[in-house]
Amino acid sequence: MNNASIAATKKLGGKAALITGGSSGIGLATARLFLEEGARVAITGRDADSLARAQKTLGAETLVVKSDASNLGQIEALMAQVRDRYERIDVLFVNAGIARAAAFEEVSEAQFDEIVAINFKGAFFTIQKALPLLAANAAVIVTTSIANRKGAPDYSVYAASKAALRSLVQSLGLALIGRGIRVNAISPGPVATPMFGRSGLPEELMQARKRALAEKSPIKRLATPEEIARVALFLASDDSSYMVGAEIVVDGAIGIL
Ligand SMILES: NC(=O)c1ccc[n+]([C@@H]2O[C@H](COP(=O)([O-])OP(=O)(O)OC[C@H]3O[C@@H](n4cnc5c(N)ncnc54)[C@H](OP(=O)(O)O)[C@@H]3O)[C@@H](O)[C@H]2O)c1
Repeated sequence: MNNASIAATKKLGGKAALITGGSSGIGLATARLFLEEGARVAITGRDADSLARAQKTLGAETLVVKSDASNLGQIEALMAQVRDRYERIDVLFVNAGIARAAAFEEVSEAQFDEIVAINFKGAFFTIQKALPLLAANAAVIVTTSIANRKGAPDYSVYAASKAALRSLVQSLGLALIGRGIRVNAISPGPVATPMFGRSGLPEELMQARKRALAEKSPIKRLATPEEIARVALFLASDDSSYMVGAEIVVDGAIGIL
């Protein structure tokens, strides 16, 4: 088989993919899988060390951009870099996000603003600013969470930000399908990623929370980031050609308990 026919057998052969929050967890696992499937990949994140590690793992061909998803100027600069490198975007994975644990009465305005600015405003404007680059048959995938349909008393702002994304995916699914662009969401349950360590809980509490979630889950474990990446690949590829404005739940059935 020559190089052209090998590329043709891959699910994303010849496609250009941008993954926000691609330096860690779900985004990094998805970047690896997309590369294996023949895509040219760009990733973002904020932390310089994580970005340098990701560049090493993903290889020099991958475009690695330090870009804060909550900052419109940085989103515009990101799109300019992606345009210069790849000319267009075939797959946009809007995945950057943060979770912070806090009881309702303790949530500060700054915490509220930070979560909403990254998880919701960031996603909204990432898609808007990417629009001129999106190919006619592009796939946009947004990472929501099963928290967007359940009460999450210690993550009330996070859960609401993800509910806003669920709504956005429906609106943009309708707004963009006329151009051939499919917008869909993945709604993960608990996934074993560094996010748990960044939630603001002390280490012991965080480990206890992970154990409790695994125990409570019908499948008796957390998901791996690779299990979410494989669903992202489905939504990114032509295999999901009739899916528009939908949300795929990947949660080991914890969400239907
Ligand atoms: N893990 C779970 O259980 C779970 C469940 C449901 C949904 N999710 C969602 O899945 C997505 C990925 O999370 P993960 O579990 O893979 O967590 P993670 O390992 O902490 O990765 C989060 C990624 O987002 C990036 N990021 C965060 N804020 C950013 C910002 N302002 N600008 C640009 N990049 C930013 C991080 O880079 P920096 O650290 O450099 O900022 C990192 O690359 C999130 O949207 C999360 O809400 C996760």
